[in-house]
Amino acid sequence: MPKSRSIQLVARPEGLPQEGDFAVVETDVPDASEGEVLVQNLYMSVDPAMRPRLSAGYELNQPMAAGAIGRVVQSRTPELAVGDIVSNGLGFREFFVSAPPGLRRLEPVGDLPLTVHMHVLGGTGFTAYGGILDIAGLKPGDKVFVSTAAGAVGSVAAQIAKINGNWVVGSTGSAEKADWLLKEAGLDAAFDYHETPVRQGLRQHATEGIDVYFDNVGGDHLDAALAVMNPLGRVAVCGMISGYNEPGARTTVRNLANVIYGRINIRGFTLADFMSRRAQFVQDMTGWLQEGRVRYQETVMDGIEKAPAALIGLFQGLNTGKMLVKLAD
Ligand SMILES: NC(=O)c1ccc[n+]([C@@H]2O[C@H](COP(=O)([O-])OP(=O)(O)OC[C@H]3O[C@@H](n4cnc5c(N)ncnc54)[C@H](OP(=O)(O)O)[C@@H]3O)[C@@H](O)[C@H]2O)c1
Repeated sequence: MPKSRSIQLVARPEGLPQEGDFAVVETDVPDASEGEVLVQNLYMSVDPAMRPRLSAGYELNQPMAAGAIGRVVQSRTPELAVGDIVSNGLGFREFFVSAPPGLRRLEPVGDLPLTVHMHVLGGTGFTAYGGILDIAGLKPGDKVFVSTAAGAVGSVAAQIAKINGNWVVGSTGSAEKADWLLKEAGLDAAFDYHETPVRQGLRQHATEGIDVYFDNVGGDHLDAALAVMNPLGRVAVCGMISGYNEPGARTTVRNLANVIYGRINIRGFTLADFMSRRAQFVQDMTGWLQEGRVRYQETVMDGIEKAPAALIGLFQGLNTGKMLVKLAD
């Protein structure tokens, strides 16, 4: 019977979460019963959307939940074999027992690491794909602005726009990230918003205005985008991370009235809006990855005890590309 450590929320944070809001708790895990498997998690995801759930959603003193991939180490069902790698929603714990529903066996794609299923070929990649193509309705000639452009969703949205032949500017949180966006991801322009305020960065780079803003930040970024949007521009609101540490995920936009004369369409979305595109996404993204047309990065923290720091780190810009926590080899 293995021991399993889990991460539990022990206090609801105010503002930026602190490591003391979380505890590492060790428990015994039972063997798999008939019809069940015992899974050892290998990698788990941390995501900005977990922050609102720390205020309301996650139960106190219970293991938190997150997307993860794990290896079946004991099986008492014909549906899964020892050694199978499965995606699951039970991250923030090292081991768990489950019946097969809720577990999806993952197959390797060429020589890509299995972790791509957790981001570029998984939920964040699909969010970027549907968000930029369907929700923003990307058209030839559109000038595109993507915020948090070196993050998991942003880096994919920006590169899909490039594959589509569009001009793309990205904002990001450091000079190194901006460098990656220009040299590796092939963006036309990128700037560090800590060095160059977003309004100034857009005025400097987007001299012909922007037609599509893929918003991951809200607040000052949305404000700055609205100031340079061309008539009939579209804003696809994927996230508003700048407000997530505020009660109610508040965000402040001062020039919303620009949407009137600009006839600007602002639309929020989740991937439920384009689920029917999933198979097409997997086919397109697999091809782009294998052809090297979509690049990705992972920031991996080692050990379940690092999961709170990884989650907090999302709000400090510690990650380039997808933030993951490695739980076992
Ligand atoms: N609608 C959906 O279905 C859906 C699905 C997934 C994600 N999302 C949203 O998409 C956005 C990106 O998520 P992700 O998973 O790809 O995370 P991510 O971009 O990989 O990581 C978060 C990044 O946000 C940036 N950031 C943090 N605080 C900021 C602030 N106050 N102002 C500006 N930038 C800030 C940091 O990068 P910098 O170095 O650039 O500051 C950080 O690295 C989030 O808003 C998330 O909620 C939405």
